[in-house]
Amino acid sequence: AMITLRQLLNHAAEHGYAVPAFNINNMEQGLAVMNAAQATDSPVILQASRGARAYANDLVLAGLIEGFARAFPDIPVCMHLDHGNNLATCATAIQNGFTSVMMDGSLREDGSTPADYAYNSGITAEVVRMAHACGVSVEGELGVLGSLETGMGDQEDGHGATEKLEEDQLLTDPAEAERFVTDTGVDALAVAMGTSHGAYKFTRQPDGDILAMHVIEEIHRRLPNTHLVMHGSSSVPEDLQRIINDHGGDIRPTWGVPVEEIQRGIRSGVRKVNIDTDNRLAMTAAIRKTLAEDPSEFDPRKYLKPAIAMMAEVCKARFEAFGAAGHA
Ligand code: G3H
Ligand code: 13P
Ligand code: NA
Ligand code: ZN
Repeated sequence: AMITLRQLLNHAAEHGYAVPAFNINNMEQGLAVMNAAQATDSPVILQASRGARAYANDLVLAGLIEGFARAFPDIPVCMHLDHGNNLATCATAIQNGFTSVMMDGSLREDGSTPADYAYNSGITAEVVRMAHACGVSVEGELGVLGSLETGMGDQEDGHGATEKLEEDQLLTDPAEAERFVTDTGVDALAVAMGTSHGAYKFTRQPDGDILAMHVIEEIHRRLPNTHLVMHGSSSVPEDLQRIINDHGGDIRPTWGVPVEEIQRGIRSGVRKVNIDTDNRLAMTAAIRKTLAEDPSEFDPRKYLKPAIAMMAEVCKARFEAFGAAGHA
């Protein structure tokens, strides 16, 4: 059944776990998440970016999600818009059956420049009024994702601020977070503490200098009842990097967010954890391996089935590590 983000995260807070939010763009990624949720008895957040909506076609995506909810009737499913950048994108997501939207006002609409507080709180409050009138939840974001090692906003996958940023822009200010939640009425708040999107987050195993989990702890002290969201939370597992590189791929040495650091966040109010890259790596690893082992294969089902299975293994591991397993 379809459920809002607010309903899902209230339950998570009550029981002290977090729900991984997996990005999907197609049937195979959706099936991987749903199979993993079924196997672990977990509630689901499926999220689609603006890029996913353009790739799959909004109506096709809406039909897929309805299909997943009907095919897995025991699993609560929240359908969430990832990184909405204006009112219209959020409105059309709601028209297409999304039960939750993210209004990311941390950047200007074109994504190039960090936005000021007035812009972010103003546009986010406007989306909250519209979405709540429709019974839909809203995630906001305060602080800019990017690397504390380089000072660059995340642009690996073509989004994020392109100028060099100050440390105070890359770390959410706890006092401002308090004000933002009051000013906007968001159901969940994404915060910045040194993670970035994509595979290249850290050039070494992260420590507190480059992954500032203490910021989350301070925000949680001030906002104990606010559901916090971590973006850029893929762990970029070394074994998946290796499978890809052993079969003709080229992933440069890199580190992601250790699962134990996410678990530390979950003890401090993190209730939604965004993961896309790990699943991309899993599918690519399985497809490269399958095709390398049998170059004569050309039936897409023959390599997509292992891709679904390898992605489902990642999803299962996250459902379990974040404590969501058993809570469907
Ligand atoms: O926000 C980042 C997610 O990984 C989605 O990426 O915009 O390439 O679909 P995308
Ligand atoms: P990753 O690139 O770390 O998987 O982050 C995904 C994300 O934050 C989507 O909004
Ligand atoms: Na999101
Ligand atoms: Zn994100």
